[in-house]
Amino acid sequence: MTRTPVNVTVTGAAGQIGYALLFRIASGHLLGADVPVRLRLLEIPQAVKAAEGTAMELDDCAFPLLSGIDIFDDAAKAFEGTNVALLVGARPRTKGMERGDLLEANGGIFKPQGEAINAGAADDVKVLVVGNPANTNALIAQSHAPDVPAERFTAMTRLDHNRALAQLSKKAGVSVADIKKMTIWGNHSATQYPDIFHAEINGKNAAETVNDQAWLENDFIPTVAKRGAAIIEARGASSAASAASAAIDHVHTWVNGTAEGTWTSMAVVSDGSYGVPEGLISSFPVTTKDGKWEIVQGLEINDFSRARIDASVNELAEERDAVRKLGLI
Ligand code: NAD
Ligand code: LMR
Repeated sequence: MTRTPVNVTVTGAAGQIGYALLFRIASGHLLGADVPVRLRLLEIPQAVKAAEGTAMELDDCAFPLLSGIDIFDDAAKAFEGTNVALLVGARPRTKGMERGDLLEANGGIFKPQGEAINAGAADDVKVLVVGNPANTNALIAQSHAPDVPAERFTAMTRLDHNRALAQLSKKAGVSVADIKKMTIWGNHSATQYPDIFHAEINGKNAAETVNDQAWLENDFIPTVAKRGAAIIEARGASSAASAASAAIDHVHTWVNGTAEGTWTSMAVVSDGSYGVPEGLISSFPVTTKDGKWEIVQGLEINDFSRARIDASVNELAEERDAVRKLGLI
C-alpha cells in the first residue's frame, strides 16, 4: 500500500539550518524510513531563488521518500494542509547579541505564521519553533492560533539536551547511549538549567556517580547554557548542523515516542507543573507516545535546582510581558 505523503513545511528554507535540515527530512530521518514526505518551503521573496537552488539539489538526490517540493513566499499558502511545521526562519543573533535582542525583530514573523497555521494547517498539525527566541516565538505563534490545541506548539531545547548528554558523557567516560533521563528546564537561553540530578548513567544516579559539585556549577551548567555563544564565537555563525539534527530528533521523538525508561526535553506549554506558570512555553522532562507528549510528574526538585528553574522561568515570564507590551500576543 502506498502511504499518503506527510506535508512538512519548513520556514527559512534557504538559511543555514534549512540547508542542513531539508536533506535529512527528505531521506526519512524526520518521520521514519517508510514515510513519504512532501516539502513546503517558505522564504522571504529575496531568498526564494536560493530556496529554488536547494530544491534542485534535493531533486538531484533522488530520495525515494520525497514526493514533491513547493516553494512559497506567502505563509498562508505554505502552511496549507501542513502536518508538521518547522519554524526555523528568523534572524540569528551575531557576536555579542543576547537572544532577548531578537524579541522584537523576530516576534513580528511569528504572529502571521501562527495565524496562517490556524487558518490552513491540517487537523493533526505539530509545530516546532527553532527560530530564536524560540520559546517566546512559539508562544506568539500559539496565541494567534486559537483553533489549534496549544499542546501542538513546541519549541526546541533538544539541542541543549544533546549538548548536555555530550558534556556528561565526556566527564563520565561513557557513551551518550548510557545516559538516560537528562532534563533541560526553562528557556532556550543562557538561563536554561541542565539538570543531572535525575539523570542516570548505566542505571545509576548521574549526579552521585560524577560527584563533583564544582564541575557541575562551574563547568557543566555554563558550558551547556552558553554553548550557542561559544559556537558563534568559534564558527562566526550560529550552530546549524547540530540545530538541524536536534530538530530532527525533536520531531522524530514526538511522533515515534520516547524509549521505555527515559525521557527527553521539549519546551511545551505549561499546565502549572513544577511551579511554572500556566501558559508559558518552558522546557520540561517529557515522555511521548502516539504523537502526544506528557510532562514527567513527581520529580523531587532540590534547592539548587529550584533556584535555577525559577531564574529561567522568570526570564520567560519577562519575555512574555515584553512581547505583550509590543502587541505581539
Ligand atoms: P539564517 O540567517 O541562515 O537563515 C534564516 C532564514 O530565514 C533566511 O534564509 C531568511 O531569509 C529566512 N527568513 C527570515 N524571515 C523569514 C520569514 N518571515 N519567513 C520565512 N523565512 C524567513 O539563520 P539560521 O542559522 O538558519 O538560524 C535560523 C534561526 O534558528 C535563528 O533564529 C537562530 O538563532 C535559530 N537557532 C535556534 C536554535 C535552537 O536550539 N532553538 C539553534 C540554532 C539556531
Ligand atoms: C544555539 O543555541 O546554538 C542557538 O540558539 C544560536 C544562539 O543564538 O545561541
